[in-house]
Amino acid sequence: MKLWGGRFSKSTDHLMDDFHSSISFDKRLAEQDITGSIAHATMLGEQGIIPQADADKIVEGLKGILEDVHAGKIEWMVDAEDIHMNVETILTQRIGEAGKKLHTGRSRNDQVALDARMYCKLACEETAEMLNDLLSVILDIAQDNLHTIMPGYTHMQKAQPITLAHHMMAYFQMFLRDRRRFRNAYDAADVMPLGSGALAGTTYPLNRERVAELLGFSAITDNSLDGVSDRDFLLDFLSAASICMMHLSRFCEELILWNTNEFRFVEMDDAFATGSSIMPQKKNPDAAELIRGKTGRVYGDLMALLTVMKGIPLAYNKDMQEDKEAFFDARDTLVKGLTVFTAMLKSCTFRKEVMEKGASGGFTNATDAADYMVKHGVPFRDAHAVVGKLVAHCLNENKALLDLTLEELKSFHPVFEQDVFEDLSMLACVEKRRIPGAPAPDMVQLAIDKGRRALAE
Ligand code: ARG
Repeated sequence: MKLWGGRFSKSTDHLMDDFHSSISFDKRLAEQDITGSIAHATMLGEQGIIPQADADKIVEGLKGILEDVHAGKIEWMVDAEDIHMNVETILTQRIGEAGKKLHTGRSRNDQVALDARMYCKLACEETAEMLNDLLSVILDIAQDNLHTIMPGYTHMQKAQPITLAHHMMAYFQMFLRDRRRFRNAYDAADVMPLGSGALAGTTYPLNRERVAELLGFSAITDNSLDGVSDRDFLLDFLSAASICMMHLSRFCEELILWNTNEFRFVEMDDAFATGSSIMPQKKNPDAAELIRGKTGRVYGDLMALLTVMKGIPLAYNKDMQEDKEAFFDARDTLVKGLTVFTAMLKSCTFRKEVMEKGASGGFTNATDAADYMVKHGVPFRDAHAVVGKLVAHCLNENKALLDLTLEELKSFHPVFEQDVFEDLSMLACVEKRRIPGAPAPDMVQLAIDKGRRALAE
């Protein structure tokens, strides 16, 4: 008979068992479920709600089950429905009568909320840790490439020269914000819901603060209805995961592009590429492509849970059981993506000469030519027009700005002097951008130093 079977005169249709049972996926919460139950039973004993001897037996029994879970010795039962009733059933099989007292003053509704919060906190910590690894790889690449000049793009058109260090530090900022988002999701999850009961609290004198303390929660939930029906913390995790995957995907897209024969900015390590079954010459950036592709899954997981939650009246409804697969899938996809990406990035070789050469094509110093004129008293808008004409002239002649003679330059505007050639070199263009947040090497060094301090926080 089901643990809840008292009022039923028929057993569940096997179709129904198969449909609503969640043990196939919520067995992942075993550790949290058992640890949560140990805390609950400990508190029940301390409060005198159940006899201390029974509490002791329950705690011992649960510890034994947890060991067996770790050893892979537990056979989960589909008809015991979910992780909560599986554990309770096994406990009672093992310790007898006392096991039946575990669920005093508790509902699966607050129990599953507790388990999900505990797992979510763990996932946030893991992810923040992995982001730290990635951030430190990025800092190292930046540090090694303070002077590696490359073209910066807008609209995928060459725009102005920057450095690889500066480009890397843009991603540093993105992943640092991601770490903040996971820390925020951690805080959202770090509130203890047991005591909410099914929806309306409980008549027993539970010590909720004690349970929170035993389980390392910072606070307890303030409303029993919200305590069982809130899944915002999972949505916080899923949206942080979605944004983080979006960042990974953009980075992958750039590496894929840079790894093409057209760009040749980067050489991906053989260990993170794959070959073709027909074209012998191929070396494809599959790792980066898969991460880009898997981003869609994580967005899907976020959309799935947002959609599940949007129409549910208070308080618990079984719809909410759908939270777990989406959450686990996003967590697993993100963890794998971050692990592979960090290793792949670390193994990339950047072709500095190719990048540097790429920087000087496409009139990336045109803005600097206009700035040169401004420095000599020409209003910016007029300078812009003159340099525009210079660019058109060069396009006709198939030349770069620096290929022109001083006489040619002067024929467009008398302001040009010999020092313009020095002023428009790629290195000078980068070095002149010396305000906070700009690509001059000493400014990027400051950004790296600041980044290292942020990383340690
Ligand atoms: N397996 C359920 C879930 O994941 C546990 C809570 C069940 N509560 C209930 N009233 N049926 O949501």
